Amino acid sequence: MKQEWKKYTEEDHAVWKILFERQLQNLQGKAWDEYLNSISLAGLTAEEVPDFYQVELALSKQTGWEIEVVPGIISVDEFLRLLARKRFCSSTWLRSRAQLDYLEEPDMFHDIFGHIPLLINKSYSDFVVAFARLGLHYLHHPQAVMLLERLYWFTIEFGMMRSNGKLQIYGAGILSSFGESKHVFGKDILLRPFTAEAVLLTPFRNNEIQKQYFVVEEINDLWNCLPEVKRLLDAFVVGELDEDVFCFQEQLGTV
Ligand SMILES: [Fe+2]
Repeated sequence: MKQEWKKYTEEDHAVWKILFERQLQNLQGKAWDEYLNSISLAGLTAEEVPDFYQVELALSKQTGWEIEVVPGIISVDEFLRLLARKRFCSSTWLRSRAQLDYLEEPDMFHDIFGHIPLLINKSYSDFVVAFARLGLHYLHHPQAVMLLERLYWFTIEFGMMRSNGKLQIYGAGILSSFGESKHVFGKDILLRPFTAEAVLLTPFRNNEIQKQYFVVEEINDLWNCLPEVKRLLDAFVVGELDEDVFCFQEQLGTV
């Protein structure tokens, strides 16, 4: 599949502009500085719906990621194989003006505005590739894959960082959501220190707004957690860790 950029309408470009400008303003002082700096490096502007060819050209000068156009949800193994080859999946449809704040599945504002600028950071990019390779290693064990989905969920989608004492968003699910990027700084939110063990033991539900988030101290914490993730998964796979502690029945949906 390919993006057919010329088919976007004036209304699509207008909706993109509303979403982009509103969220960029909303994220000032809230998002990870490097994410904000990378939006323009990724070739994204408010003026028009991004042309994936141009975005890939911009990424080729950075960490070399490409965009794989997908029709919607794809299988976990295909998703991991693409990620491991530095191909990030994106849809090409854009929400309508009437749906600015509610989506049943991710559109290109989430996939591109939320995810792509992060991939310019070398440490983050290396983490995503290593995560995918780890996932491919455990494909034969569906419950191990479920645990890796937790890692993806609480980092790539809903990760938070405390940098120099300042709480910042780096998870794409929050970065691309006007509501959630306010919600995460609200009251009654549980902010937990990020450890591999805590994340792997925490089921998520993908049909409701998050009540807890894991906070890294720096982006390198993602890469650095992987040996411990692998150690825990290996222990689980060989039966050294009891299945009950992982509360699989409480997890709802996939990433
Ligand atoms: Fe996402």
